[in-house]
Amino acid sequence: MKIVVTGAAGFIATSLLPRLLNSGDEVHGVDNYFLGKREFVARSLGAPNFHFYEFDLLDRDRVIALFRDVRPDLVWHLAANSDISFGTKYTDFDLKGGTLVTYNVLEAMRLAGTKELLFSSSGAIYGEPKVMPTPENYGPILPISLYAASKAACETLITAFASNYGIRSWIFRFGNITGPFPTHGVIHDFILKLKKDPTRLQILGDGRQSKPYVHVEDCLDGMMFGHKQARESVNCFNLAVPDATSVNEIAQWTIEAMGLDAKRVLLEYTGGSRGWPGDVPQVRLDTRRMESLGWRPKMKSAEAVRRSISETVEQMR
Ligand SMILES: NC(=O)c1ccc[n+]([C@@H]2O[C@H](COP(=O)([O-])OP(=O)(O)OC[C@H]3O[C@@H](n4cnc5c(N)ncnc54)[C@H](O)[C@@H]3O)[C@@H](O)[C@H]2O)c1
Repeated sequence: MKIVVTGAAGFIATSLLPRLLNSGDEVHGVDNYFLGKREFVARSLGAPNFHFYEFDLLDRDRVIALFRDVRPDLVWHLAANSDISFGTKYTDFDLKGGTLVTYNVLEAMRLAGTKELLFSSSGAIYGEPKVMPTPENYGPILPISLYAASKAACETLITAFASNYGIRSWIFRFGNITGPFPTHGVIHDFILKLKKDPTRLQILGDGRQSKPYVHVEDCLDGMMFGHKQARESVNCFNLAVPDATSVNEIAQWTIEAMGLDAKRVLLEYTGGSRGWPGDVPQVRLDTRRMESLGWRPKMKSAEAVRRSISETVEQMR
């Protein structure tokens, strides 16, 4: 297959690319290195079936030209501003980097006749739902961050394009994805802080935020499984694990994995139940729709987090 991967230098794409390249697909990756890293994408640059393009997906003419030249069969659309806290500072950040970029990709697909799209959405779109674990058909969805508002807008653009132009889509509403090569997120943040000062660790909020963590290998297994098994015009799934891990647990395990003495690390809490405005402190996603397809993650939340901490400590050494 000819595949376009947006956000090709990012965290999830760094684990995805070897899988696609090893299976012989012709892969065209795009990234502007906004959060992605050159050394991540460099891991795949030697493959003869990989082509990489550095540009901003906000440049619609470039996106359309790429799709016109490549005529991809399938798009893994992973590019977005993945750091929710940016949207609290710059209110058009997610609108441009999430919603407009997704429109550009959909329009380029329409013009090139590309018929399949995998999209990385988020459980954050539910906001603070009254039903937990939250199923995919929960509504109305009331996002509380500009990041989540953008993901919800992207989903509606995708369903409209699917209906009008015969584009089949797989929308995955992720829990927290974790694993090696992070570009952001709590484990990455804690390791950087502890490397800078091993005697103290600032924790955003009260540390009791708890969310389902999915290892990136499980995430990719789930997306590939869903893509193969679900054949509606729009296929929408929560991609998560049934249990959850707290920020305090992640702090303790990171301190241990870095070989530090927990008694000598001062934990400093910024306070309040949220890490930042728009953070949803308690998340539980109903995973039964994916299970009914026949897919289950191999790792529970705690195992995914512990494995990711040791992978990331090793990689950032
Ligand atoms: N990691 C998670 O826990 C998580 C959870 C829910 C949803 N998601 C979504 O999954 C996708 C991938 O997440 P990730 O963790 O790999 O994030 P990431 O930030 O590591 O990867 C996204 C990549 O997109 C690139 N990018 C962003 N804007 C771009 C633009 N305008 N033009 C070109 N490239 C651009 C970035 O440079 C980055 O390399 C994102 O859409 C994110 O919102 C991730």
